[in-house]
Amino acid sequence: MPTPSVILAIESSCDDTGVAIIRGREVLSNAIANQTVHEQYGGVVPELASRAHAQNIVPTLESALKTAKISVEEIDAVAYTRGPGLMGSLHVGTAFAKSWAWAHGIPMVPVNHMQAHILAHFLAPDPSPSFPFLCLTVSGGHTQLVQVDGPLDMTILGETKDDAAGEAFDKVAKLMGLPYPGGPILDRMAAEGDGLEFAFTKPKVEGLDMSFSGLKTQIWQFLQQHVQRNPSFIEARKHDIAASVQRAILNILMDKVETAVEQTGIARVAIAGGVSANRGLRARLQAKEDRAGWQVYIPPLAYCTDNAAMIAMAGSLLFEAGGRGILSDEPVPRWTF
Ligand code: KG4
Ligand code: ZN
Repeated sequence: MPTPSVILAIESSCDDTGVAIIRGREVLSNAIANQTVHEQYGGVVPELASRAHAQNIVPTLESALKTAKISVEEIDAVAYTRGPGLMGSLHVGTAFAKSWAWAHGIPMVPVNHMQAHILAHFLAPDPSPSFPFLCLTVSGGHTQLVQVDGPLDMTILGETKDDAAGEAFDKVAKLMGLPYPGGPILDRMAAEGDGLEFAFTKPKVEGLDMSFSGLKTQIWQFLQQHVQRNPSFIEARKHDIAASVQRAILNILMDKVETAVEQTGIARVAIAGGVSANRGLRARLQAKEDRAGWQVYIPPLAYCTDNAAMIAMAGSLLFEAGGRGILSDEPVPRWTF
């Protein structure tokens, strides 16, 4: 058996600076510096994100090396997020990763962040899904339903036409006066509410594509009407509102996943991206495993939201397949596959 490759990876596509080191499928370290500066602005401010990456990247790298107890000489390749993401954020990670790899004479491997979210399923210790499988990738920037036929053989079956599912959570949370990112807060509030209290209509979107912006407008109108009559409506009913909104978003997602399973005949279903941390989504998928015979793959929380371990896993698979980057590779803020 060949010795598994040691990969150091750098993630900087949005507002989290991550550095991870893996050996084969084993995560030796997964350091992350979360940026809190954006909370007060109700969303990620690109300029501030780039500056924070520049400040955080060296300490995060030092922490990852220390935890992994790996010397630079043992590293076979440096993987980094080339895109998609915010241009300024990508620039910091890309320039740093390429310079660091070049200075140490180590090969560099550019990685697609969305493919990496899916390939997080190959990290130890959980069993990896066998091919083919479907993956619902739901984050703050993307919502995609992907057929995965091989580690590097993926086809997008459907995606959102407007807002991402995480963005829908965050925007509704903002309408309710909650801080950014609102997804996890809505999730916690929903657990104490009744999702059948308020009904929202599901948008009609062709095929396996999705839409969330109409739902956001509907919820905005709904909140306005109620607040006009009762200014403390949101505070008084926040748990039921959160549960009803979450149910509406999950109905859209689950509807499309069910259709994809029917159409492809593939009942192995994985989830990836920040929204896969959502307890409601996890429970609905688990119910499908129990009642409809699906095989469901849910990543550990640390590998759902943005992290560098998933970039390392994707980088490792690409590296083993002969993938190499060059110094002139530029960030790709909009990068489909
Ligand atoms: O994948 P991710 O960390 O970053 C992007 O690439 O976007 O996803 C972040 C998104 C945010 O919109 C956040 O509100 C959402 O994931 N999110 C959640 C939960 N945890 C994170 N949404 C709903 N429920 C959660 N528990
Ligand atoms: Zn992401």
